[in-house]
Amino acid sequence: MASSLLQAPRGTRDFYPEDLRFRTWLFDHFREVARRFGFEEVDAPVVEHEELFTRKAGEEIVEQLYHFELHGRKLALRPEMTPSIARMVRARAGGLRLPLRWFTVTQNWRYERMTRGRKREHFQWNLDVWGEPGVAAEAELLAAIFTLLRRIGLGAGQVRVQVNSRALLEETLRAGVLRDRPAAFEPLCVRIDKLSKIGADAVVDQLVDPAGPVGLPPADARDVVALLGLRSLDDAAAAAPAGSPAITDLRRLFELLEAYGVAAHVDFDASVVRGLAYYTGIVFEAFDAERKLRAVCGGGRYDRLLETLGGPAMPAVGFGFGDVVIAELLAEHDLVPALSRGLDDVVCALGEAQRPAAIRLATRLREAGRSVELVLGDVRPKRVLDDADRAGARRVLFFGPDEAARGVVRVRELGGGGEHEEPLEG
Ligand code: HAM
Repeated sequence: MASSLLQAPRGTRDFYPEDLRFRTWLFDHFREVARRFGFEEVDAPVVEHEELFTRKAGEEIVEQLYHFELHGRKLALRPEMTPSIARMVRARAGGLRLPLRWFTVTQNWRYERMTRGRKREHFQWNLDVWGEPGVAAEAELLAAIFTLLRRIGLGAGQVRVQVNSRALLEETLRAGVLRDRPAAFEPLCVRIDKLSKIGADAVVDQLVDPAGPVGLPPADARDVVALLGLRSLDDAAAAAPAGSPAITDLRRLFELLEAYGVAAHVDFDASVVRGLAYYTGIVFEAFDAERKLRAVCGGGRYDRLLETLGGPAMPAVGFGFGDVVIAELLAEHDLVPALSRGLDDVVCALGEAQRPAAIRLATRLREAGRSVELVLGDVRPKRVLDDADRAGARRVLFFGPDEAARGVVRVRELGGGGEHEEPLEG
């Protein structure tokens, strides 16, 4: 076998039992928080029509598609969940009770350049609200994120959320440098999203590039980048057109976040625009407080996505929360939980003649809801005890000819609990 076959493809992961225990623990928290916020789980195929994901704004996510052609059909592995959810909403648009609260926990595929916290497959927890135009929906989503963080052990201040509004940027630019070129707004957002990665000069170059979709004069491009430096809502309000609805929304959002008790962990940051073209309003990303890692999660309002898929107008807002960065952050803070297998009993027949009775005993314990490992071969008791101890079992139940003759089972409590006999019922 070629040595490359011993490894999963670069950027993908095998999940051994201990890895899957952690994943299940995390996903259980995702599901429990979603349930507490009244969201219902949905799912969709990991393979979709490629066209669902191809957009022309120059987003990296489109370049990173795992795509292929089968029997003349162009298909792709989903890089994110939002377009599939939009497809599902569109198919039932007339009959849904709004606002709709849906969540997903799914694997996504992106052919990324690999760096810390970036893989080629990752799982995401998505919460999306459809049919609610007001920022009460954004506030609820941000509260759910903080609830999750608290549940998994990340205390106040270990993660901060940065909030901005694309609508604010759009209002400001449409009153100024994009006055005559509204179509340049989406590609402009995709390019300025790279600011922290590639720096101001490179972003200006991209905005100025005459062959690109934005094509601003250099002075205008520098003005755009300067706007992104604003870190207070008052400064942003001063730069925005008078009576800006986007500023009103942002102020209201912060008021509501006060009521949830999380406003102290949320900052206004004009540089957050997000790299996906479909966002239209408030956008946000969460980062570890020390900013060592990539975004823990990101999302925002995308009120026009359904229309671009040929559906009716429907406001929507949501976020995606990945499993990779949060695992790194928990490890950084020594917060990865020690998770046991949850094995209760190991049942061991001492001799083949006792096996049928041992099987009946294991069956009874399993029917009572206990997790039971039945020793399958002829294993020495000392080895059974060592193995059971290592597996984290609570008890080992031995059943030999002597026990059979007396109608009992010998129970060894692991972890220093001693040994006793119990009557063999049934
Ligand atoms: P996104 O920012 O592309 O948004 O991804 C959301 C989160 O998924 C990121 O913050 C990160 O934690 C995780 N993530 C993304 N790509 C990778 C990767 N290659 N490796 C590891 N983790 C990754 C979206 O996908 C939007 N669809 C979210 C959304 C839902 N917006 C509205 N509703």
